[in-house]
Amino acid sequence: MDRFSIVVGDITGSDAEAIVNAANTTLLGGSGVDGAIHAAAGPALLAECRTLGGCETGRAKLTAGYRLRAKYVIHTPGPIWHGGDRGEPALLASCYRSCLELAEERGIRTLDFCSISTGVYGYPLPLAATVALRAIMDFLADHPLPERVRMVCHTEAAAEIYRQTWNLWYAADKDHRL
Ligand code: APR
Repeated sequence: MDRFSIVVGDITGSDAEAIVNAANTTLLGGSGVDGAIHAAAGPALLAECRTLGGCETGRAKLTAGYRLRAKYVIHTPGPIWHGGDRGEPALLASCYRSCLELAEERGIRTLDFCSISTGVYGYPLPLAATVALRAIMDFLADHPLPERVRMVCHTEAAAEIYRQTWNLWYAADKDHRL
């Protein structure tokens, strides 16, 4: 699947048309990638977020990117990990699907994800990677947009877990391993 790839970097420097922010339900900023995106986008991002009235876990809302290279930011509050028996996998899958649906709806061609819920919200990375990749690959199989989707991991260690997970589930043969 050449429409999807896993990269290491800082999503605030992404050249994708839209980047995904791992937000909270207030959409009023925070630490982690949320804090980094707001810091890079500037105060106008928060001003627009204030007009959105928050966002439910698993849903997604779009704003402009302001000082970011990305034209848009898609904000999605992921689930907080409580052990996995409070619907976390379904809510995390919904985050990815909601962002992809919103991107397609707006005709966005390139979309960069961060690893939703795997920082402050404590979602174990290998479990999150399985949910994320399945949601992304299922969507791309049925939809022409976005044309390119990347998972932007902040560390090489995180990227390796995503690559291993992708190879386990999606590398039809060794020539397609990431
Ligand atoms: N670029 C790419 N990925 C990043 C960056 C960055 N600049 N900064 C952090 N990350 C990664 C983290 O390493 C983690 O894998 O983003 C992933 C998500 O971590 P968090 O940002 O902590 O987000 P999350 O776990 O979803 O928790 C959301 O934290 O920042 C607050 O307001 C936010 O309350 C919300 C909660």
